Amino acid sequence: MTALILDGKALAEQIRAELKEQVATFSAETGVVPCLAVILVGNNAASEIYVRNKQQACEKIGVKSEMYRLAETASETELLTLFETLNRNDAVHGILVQLPLPKQIDEQNVLDAIVPQKDVDAFHCDNVGRISQGRPRFLPCTPYGIQELLIRNNIATAGKRAAIIGRSNIVGKPMAALLMQKGLGGDATVTVCHSRTPDVAAIARQADVLIAAIGRAKFITADMVKPGATVIDVGMNRTEEGLVGDVDFAAVKEIAGAITPVPGGVGPLTVTMLLRNTLTAAKLFKNR
Ligand code: GUN
Repeated sequence: MTALILDGKALAEQIRAELKEQVATFSAETGVVPCLAVILVGNNAASEIYVRNKQQACEKIGVKSEMYRLAETASETELLTLFETLNRNDAVHGILVQLPLPKQIDEQNVLDAIVPQKDVDAFHCDNVGRISQGRPRFLPCTPYGIQELLIRNNIATAGKRAAIIGRSNIVGKPMAALLMQKGLGGDATVTVCHSRTPDVAAIARQADVLIAAIGRAKFITADMVKPGATVIDVGMNRTEEGLVGDVDFAAVKEIAGAITPVPGGVGPLTVTMLLRNTLTAAKLFKNR
């Protein structure tokens, strides 16, 4: 049996079409055009591409985007000063600083300086706390996109075992929070594996939903997958073969029940959820 390929690109297009209508309605009713400020520090090649994708996606659905570039050598104070201005600017509803940041800048310090109501990445400690308690303001884009992909493909999570490989603040930890939450797209029994977990394969093999987010090309092999499981690949590894996920796609698709490809799986959904969060931020501004 070959797995159902979960087409993130097609789903992203569908959700973006829905968002385009919602943005048009919101703007017509309120006179407010949602606006996202994107900050790029330095010249990381991958970040350049991600940021361009985000800006283009905004434009296509009627969301304004503003780009701010800081040099690789920029100080933390420079970045904090920019945030102060953007936090106060009523024409800016969402603020996103592309990660990773150069090493002289303390990432969490900077993320906590974005006013939580404009924190469309949901990385501010206030927003992380809210997610943990099940009363989110925003959901972080990658886990949010994965949850939406599962829901819209009728892949049950309630009462199922989920294993997440990777404990990052961007994907692993918030993904665990979303899957263990009460309600649709949640109610799973969640295990988070990381670099100190013995026998990851044994844990992965028990999972009905397996999420790979460790940044190691083809780490998840066919023998680590329960037959019929749903396998979600968050990996984006640039190798000699080109862009490769964290899952050995060719082999795992023969075992899994459903699987995301790389590219065209999780990536387009991440950007889509950023757009949704930006509209939410504009609505929060209007209703404050
Ligand atoms: N770098 C890798 N993933 C992300 C993300 O979701 N948001 C931001 N701001 N930077 C990233």
